[in-house]
Amino acid sequence: IKMCRMDELTPDEQQLVNKAVDATANSYSPYSHFRVGACVRLEDGSMTIGANQENSAFPAGLCAERTAIFAAQAQHPELAITDIAIAAKNVDGVLLKKPVSPCGSCRQVILEIEERYRRPVRIFLYGTDGIYVIDSVKDMLPLCFVGDDMCG
Ligand code: THU
Repeated sequence: IKMCRMDELTPDEQQLVNKAVDATANSYSPYSHFRVGACVRLEDGSMTIGANQENSAFPAGLCAERTAIFAAQAQHPELAITDIAIAAKNVDGVLLKKPVSPCGSCRQVILEIEERYRRPVRIFLYGTDGIYVIDSVKDMLPLCFVGDDMCG
């Protein structure tokens, strides 16, 4: 896991991170008031954004990461996801200083994307103090469970 400043990222990476920051505006979070944005890049270079969507029946909501991943997969199942950036604003609407980190369920979903397309997904976790760059979700998910494990 590397810690980078924005100006150390490539222009494409900066664009991905900026889209995740902008996507926080699309969050529907009247319950937590925690606005999360995500942006995935597909292997053809195109990008899809997501934002957390909440519901009064709490479990019915979804994290920003999964809204972005599932939207991209629903439209382009033939294209691998190569990168994902995540950003969040706190209840005061201020971008987090410390990089936001995906929940366990989102990590598991990113893992399945890596298995499905047999390539790692680079992860950018945005914080105003710096950006964590992670080469594979496996670096965030020790002893992970994959579908092949069911074959014994
Ligand atoms: N949330 C995300 O969208 N992504 C994360 O990685 C952590 C949590 C959302 C879910 C819920 O809408 C709100 O943040 C508070 O948990």
